[in-house]
Amino acid sequence: MTEAVLLVGGQGTRLRPLTINTPKPMLPVAGVPFTVHQITRARDAGVTRIVLGTSYRAEVFREFIDGNDLGIEVVIATEDEPLGTGGAIRHALPYLTSGPDEPVLVFNGDVLSGLDIAGLVRHHVTSESDVSLYLTPVEDPRAYGLVPTDELGRVTQFLEKPQTPEEIVTDQINAGCYVFKRSIIDAIPTGRPVSVERETFPGLLEAGALVSGVVDRGYWLDLGTPLSFVRGSCDLVMGLAPSPAVAAIGSSLVLPGSVIGARAHLDGGTTIGSNVDVGDDCVIDGAVVFDGAVIGAGARITNSIIGVGSRIGSGCVIDGAVIGDGAVIGAGNELLAGARVWPDAVIGDTAVRFSSDRS
Ligand code: GDD
Ligand code: MG
Repeated sequence: MTEAVLLVGGQGTRLRPLTINTPKPMLPVAGVPFTVHQITRARDAGVTRIVLGTSYRAEVFREFIDGNDLGIEVVIATEDEPLGTGGAIRHALPYLTSGPDEPVLVFNGDVLSGLDIAGLVRHHVTSESDVSLYLTPVEDPRAYGLVPTDELGRVTQFLEKPQTPEEIVTDQINAGCYVFKRSIIDAIPTGRPVSVERETFPGLLEAGALVSGVVDRGYWLDLGTPLSFVRGSCDLVMGLAPSPAVAAIGSSLVLPGSVIGARAHLDGGTTIGSNVDVGDDCVIDGAVVFDGAVIGAGARITNSIIGVGSRIGSGCVIDGAVIGDGAVIGAGNELLAGARVWPDAVIGDTAVRFSSDRS
C-alpha cells in the first residue's frame, strides 16, 4: 500500500475572489471539486490512504469528505496556523502509518497532470532515493521551482521562484509531486512554518542526500491563476487532461438541472454547473459557469469563470474575467482581460469596465 499527503492549505490568492468562500482545491473543475480529480487519480494508481493537509477554510474539506465516498480512505489533518509546504508535510506525519523506510507520496493540491504516479514510486524505491521529484519542462520557468539534474538524474540545485536571469539555469521545474522516504519527513522541524522548496530541499542537497528527478513530458498544469484554472477545466472536459472523475468527455459538460436556451452554443470544453439558466443565442466558449448562475440572452462568455448564483445580463461580453459568487452584471456590459468582480457586487446597465489586473 502507498500513502499520500495532499497539500491543500494555501489561500489561493491569485484566484480571488473565488477563493474567498471556497478554498482553491474545492472549486469545481469539470463538474467536481478539483481535489476529487487528484484523489481519484491517486486511488487508481494504487494509493490506498490520503492525508489532506488543510489550513485555510478546512471546514469546507471536512464537510465534503464526510459526505462523499471516493473509494479511498481520506484523513484530514488541519494546521491551526498555516505551516507552509514543508511544515504541512511534517504536520501530517502522526496521521501516516508507513514505516520509516517506506515511500510516502506528496502532492501539491492544485496540479493537474498525466504523471505515471506508480512509476514515480517505483523509480524512488529502485534508486533508493531519499526524495524523488516529478519534474517537467516549461517555456517560462520563472513562476516555479527550478530543478537542474545531472546525467544520472540526481538533483543538483533547487531554486524556488528565481529572481535573476543568472538563476534561470534550466527549463525543468518542480511539477508538484514528490516521493519521500518517511524518515526524511521525521527530520523536518516542527512548530514553525517550513517551506519544502526553500528550506527542506536545499538543506537535503547540502547534506548530501540522494534527491532524484524524474522528468515527465506529459500533460501538466498548475491551476493557480484564473486563465490556467479555466484551461485545466476545459482540458478535462475535452479529454486532453486525464481524470477518472470526468462524467463525460466532449466539447462541453452540462450538469443536471440546467436549462440551455435555443441556439445557445457551448464549446471549447465549457462546463455549465447545475441549475444554471443559459439564455437563447448565448455563446459560451472555454468557460466555467458555477451552479445556479443565470446568463441572459445573447451573452458571449469566453475564457472566464462565472461564480455561484451570479447573474449576467443579456448581451454582455465577458472575456478573460472572473465574476464572483452572487454578482449581478447589468445588460450590455463588457468585462475583459483580467477584470474581476467581487461577490455580490452589482454593475449597472451598459457601463463598460476594464481592469489591468492580470495576475
Ligand atoms: N497545508 C498547507 N499549509 N498547504 C499549503 C500551505 C500551508 O501553509 N501553503 C501552501 N500550501 C499548498 C497549496 O494549497 C498548494 O496546493 C501547494 O501547497 C503549493 O502552493 P502554491 O501556493 O500553489 O505554490 P506555487 O504554485 O506558487 O509553487 C509550488 O508549485 C509549483 C508547481 O505548481 C512550488 O512547489 C513550486 O516549486 C512548483 O514549481
Ligand atoms: Mg500552485
